[in-house]
Amino acid sequence: MLVLGIESSCDETGVALYSTKHGLIGNRLHTQMAMHAEYGGVVPELASRDHIRRLVPLTQACLHEAGKNYADIDAVAHTQGPGLGGALLAGSAYANALAFSLGKPVIPVHHLEGHLLSPLLAEEKPGFPFVALLVSGGHTQFMAVRGIGNYELLGESVDDAAGEAFDKTAKLLGLPYPGGAKLSELAKLGRPDAFAFPRPMLHSRDLQMSFSGLKTAVLTVVQNVRAEHGGSLPDAIRNDICRAFQDAVVDVLLAKSRQALLHTGYRTLVVAGGVGANWKLRAELAALQVRPNPKAKPEAVRTYFPPLPLCTDNGAMIAFAGAMHLQQAQPAAGFNVRPRWPLAEIVR
Ligand code: KG4
Ligand code: ZN
Repeated sequence: MLVLGIESSCDETGVALYSTKHGLIGNRLHTQMAMHAEYGGVVPELASRDHIRRLVPLTQACLHEAGKNYADIDAVAHTQGPGLGGALLAGSAYANALAFSLGKPVIPVHHLEGHLLSPLLAEEKPGFPFVALLVSGGHTQFMAVRGIGNYELLGESVDDAAGEAFDKTAKLLGLPYPGGAKLSELAKLGRPDAFAFPRPMLHSRDLQMSFSGLKTAVLTVVQNVRAEHGGSLPDAIRNDICRAFQDAVVDVLLAKSRQALLHTGYRTLVVAGGVGANWKLRAELAALQVRPNPKAKPEAVRTYFPPLPLCTDNGAMIAFAGAMHLQQAQPAAGFNVRPRWPLAEIVR
């Protein structure tokens, strides 16, 4: 079976071909980052128009890369939601039209299901069940994943997503959009412990998280530094702030990951979503251990990350999730998009 996957939920157009026999055989991506950068954020109308422009050439490039033709495609999977309405419509309309012209089925995919299954595209794959930590620009959630389509939401951020906090903090530090990755690079140059930011809800005893207060704490520090330095923010201090901010977010994600593993009893953690590209988070989670009680010996946790290029939005994860649905003979739900769509609703 050969599944074409189409991702267009936000500012990346992704097209990929997943073969149930040979794995990922084509993967093309166009990022609109440069286009949105001058506005300091994603402009939905521009995003939709750009998806429309990119979808056909990306599909052709993807087929070429895989040495396949349109006639070889067995099904077309697309992101049905959540995401920007217009952007989703561009990909969904294209996927439906293409599938209709080929006489092949359409498979609507939940964007977050794509993310949480993306580590299964890595060479070393996790086995079920596992805890999935979804950390993207729009979501920060812990899910118990017991199999394809068997997901339980364990807890999530009550306000900003971790990626959103990275991007907003980067913006107030004067970094160009989208600043999350840049902030994390600068954090490498910063000194640990030069600043101490709060770890919100660290001891809340549940798996809820909160990141919006952290951004406000950074703002206060930045205002004080600027007041002391004639309105400017010296690079070295900015790097220290980046480091302290990143350490705070990572500490919270680390503590809550431990809690999620203890709660479920699982010892496999899968990290997905754009913030999964963060070097500090990867290093800390890779060495994660849990202790069921203070007297118990620490237990090892196996942590899996998607390959770095598959951490952020891409068509490969949609093609893969589509292929999994196809194998389970999931019927297509008709042509619609769902800009707001809780992942819990797709539990089968
Ligand atoms: O999963 P993704 O591509 O899109 C969403 O579905 O949201 O994630 C994008 C998010 C952005 O907020 C971006 O700032 C963040 O992932 N991100 C990072 C890093 N690379 C991307 N955050 C922290 N450190 C990084 N290295
Ligand atoms: Zn995403």
